[in-house]
Amino acid sequence: MVKTNNLQPVLDIRNVSKDFSGVYALKNINMHIFPGKVTAIIGENGAGKSTLMKIVSGVHTDFEGEVTLNNEKINFKNPKQAAENGVVIIHQELNLIPHLSVTENVFLGQEITNKFGLLDYRKMYKKTAEILSKLKLEINPSTPVNQLRVGQQQLVEIARALFMDSKVLIMDEPTSAISDHEVELLFSIIKELRTKGVAIVYISHKINELFEIADSFEVLRDGKNAGSGEMKKTSHDDLIQMMVGRDITGSFKKEQITDGKEIIRVENLCFINPENKTDFLVKDVSFNLKKGEILGICGLMGSGRTEVLEAIFGLFPKYVSGDIYIKGKKQKIKNVNDAISAGIALVPEDRKLQGLILNMDVAKNTSLANLSEVSNYGFISSSKEKELGLEFRKKLNTKVPSENIEVQKLSGGNQQKVVIAKWLATNPKILLLDEPTRGIDVGAKTEIYNLINKLAAQGMGIIMVSSELPEILALSDNIIVLSESKLTGRFTNKEATEEKLMKAALVEKE
Ligand SMILES: Nc1ncnc2c1ncn2[C@@H]1O[C@H](COP(=O)(O)OP(=O)(O)OP(=O)(O)O)[C@@H](O)[C@H]1O
Ligand SMILES: [Mg+2]
Repeated sequence: MVKTNNLQPVLDIRNVSKDFSGVYALKNINMHIFPGKVTAIIGENGAGKSTLMKIVSGVHTDFEGEVTLNNEKINFKNPKQAAENGVVIIHQELNLIPHLSVTENVFLGQEITNKFGLLDYRKMYKKTAEILSKLKLEINPSTPVNQLRVGQQQLVEIARALFMDSKVLIMDEPTSAISDHEVELLFSIIKELRTKGVAIVYISHKINELFEIADSFEVLRDGKNAGSGEMKKTSHDDLIQMMVGRDITGSFKKEQITDGKEIIRVENLCFINPENKTDFLVKDVSFNLKKGEILGICGLMGSGRTEVLEAIFGLFPKYVSGDIYIKGKKQKIKNVNDAISAGIALVPEDRKLQGLILNMDVAKNTSLANLSEVSNYGFISSSKEKELGLEFRKKLNTKVPSENIEVQKLSGGNQQKVVIAKWLATNPKILLLDEPTRGIDVGAKTEIYNLINKLAAQGMGIIMVSSELPEILALSDNIIVLSESKLTGRFTNKEATEEKLMKAALVEKE
């Protein structure tokens, strides 16, 4: 445990355990959280990080052990009560109400009223605009949040938390969907809060980030304390060793794949902004992909990278134009079914909205896009479904605490693995991956890289969008860069460097 000279912890976690129907997610956890410090909590997918923070912030009310806030025992009835007492959490899974506006979401449960007790919309709108500009977010506070990109939604979640007067601010993977530029902004805000004495708990799988922002760390492994210390006195490798309890061997190495035949060619792809018909989300983008090739797409948030994948997958045919050739033959993709029959699969960025049915189990979710495979005479066979589920759980090393568990009860990273499994099960020829390792721990990342590489080696064509440049550089044979809806760079793996990619990603419209 970290001892900080004569500083009293604001939050003290003592011998906390938590079980879900007899399965322990946390066992005798002890942790001190200090004011004016950033404490990182790290651990593999399913280690118990989110569960612990949900206990502290009133989401889980039933647990063993004791938590004190400024030496007073707490057992918040709900997150609202926790927030009123200064313990605020930004959840890993977005918690916004989709059809409400940004303002309404920011002020949900903390509405401003005027002297007549009526909602003061103008004031709330103004305050929201202020905080959005602080986060350099150029969105209208009246926009319904379901029209925002995942990354923007994540920033709105952050904005909402910043509004509350917090003593302890918990951020559960706040940067999983935002790009480097926003991360910097967030860090400057964290530093400001730190000088004001706020205790910040920061959960992230991006180890490099932790060295930049955290003062100390606490490691969880299989629901138990597995080490703690000061960031300054620790190395990257030490942290990983504590997290996984072993050295990570068999790190990723890309196989060189021989030139195959063209599998898909995209010419002059355009995607009109449904909100503003004179504006383009994707403008005249062309590229091709060969069998066994991995094409990386990078660009800042909002550059059009996700929309390129969505356009190819037939999600918004009304707004999309351009020509798509599959194995040299022109193909009309008018909807998702056309895309699936053409052998295309998309692993989306936002698993909660597009990827999973949260109250179904892992096997059912895995076979969702692949019902014919698991059916006999038109009826779904649950044994085939289970088999398929198990096959992919093994392939991806997905951790489930019990059979038949609903996917919403899996840890964030394990949910992501189920989304990947669901689309791999369709055995696609062309696989579109949008941020495939979002929320995935360092060890499992290597597993996923190896899997992607193996699929390519077997002849699958893969297009991968990622905000993590090292990931793009490690996996891609070729890389394209988008900026403000246009293609601004094309590189082979050999030519590309982080600097060159960043430079192309920052090209502005003339
Ligand atoms: N509501 C629930 N019911 C049953 N099991 C649950 C529930 N919530 C979490 N668990 C289980 O508790 C364990 C810890 O999950 P938790 O979400 O805390 O992990 P995590 O460390 O946050 O992982 P990640 O990095 O993937 O987000 C997992 O095995 C998970 O499946
Ligand atoms: Mg989590």
